[in-house]
Amino acid sequence: MAVAIRIERLSVDFSGKAVLRDASLEIPKGGPTFLLGRSGSGKTTLLRAINRLNECFPACRTSGRVVVNTADGAMEAYAPDTAVEVLRRRVGMVFQTPNVLPLSIARNICMPLEATQGMRGAEAEARMEEALREAQLWSEVRDRLRDPAVALSGGQQQRLCLARALALRPDILLLDEPTASLDFKAAQMVEELLGELRSRYTLIVVSHGLSQARRLAEYLFVLHDGGRVEELGKDVFRDKDALLTVLGDLL
Ligand SMILES: Nc1ncnc2c1ncn2[C@@H]1O[C@H](COP(=O)(O)OP(=O)(O)O)[C@@H](O)[C@H]1O
Ligand SMILES: [Mg+2]
Repeated sequence: MAVAIRIERLSVDFSGKAVLRDASLEIPKGGPTFLLGRSGSGKTTLLRAINRLNECFPACRTSGRVVVNTADGAMEAYAPDTAVEVLRRRVGMVFQTPNVLPLSIARNICMPLEATQGMRGAEAEARMEEALREAQLWSEVRDRLRDPAVALSGGQQQRLCLARALALRPDILLLDEPTASLDFKAAQMVEELLGELRSRYTLIVVSHGLSQARRLAEYLFVLHDGGRVEELGKDVFRDKDALLTVLGDLL
């Protein structure tokens, strides 16, 4: 089994309050790997530790090791000489609520390309079309690329966020409850999309939906209160009764 991310003795606290304590886990390439746990157990914090987004919060302290295996080799996320913008390009993220930029549909994708890689013009347009096709949004927006992104439906906005992440050609995508804010139909489309993307990217999905995890997960970790991480085998998590026995009233 090829490993995409190795996390060793990761501890994270906010203002001295421990959220993760010595968490160690190996996330395989491909997936999707699902991360389940009670609300407040630290799932989002664990995702943000991988691309160092917790650093946006001054009260946050992180220790331990995160090794991300990319197409260009292994990156030590917390090594002093690691450029955080390169790490975040390799490890894209999609949030629970679609966070489109207050710009046109096209600029939502082209602006980050320009800012991170100086890419513009025909090259950026081609990359944008490729990403929108990959996110299964192209046919819905091709005639309205200059319209504001906020005019799109919630499901379309979430697929635009996915396209924006994909345009940067990441190796890994972190998805934090990506369907939680969507209606049934839009959530179903995003789920189908994850099924497609899994062959090309390593997907790590936080979810509170047991049934979603059972449908989509290839690997599954449970985050217990206190920061302990437990991996469940497929024989357990594909079997609803076995899963409920293991998880008890956790979820
Ligand atoms: N930016 C932050 N500042 C202070 N505390 C935070 C911050 N983010 C998360 N926490 C705390 O860390 C704990 C875990 O939060 P989180 O990772 O969001 O859990 P989950 O995603 O599993 O619901 C919670 O107690 C939360 O209050
Ligand atoms: Mg969360």
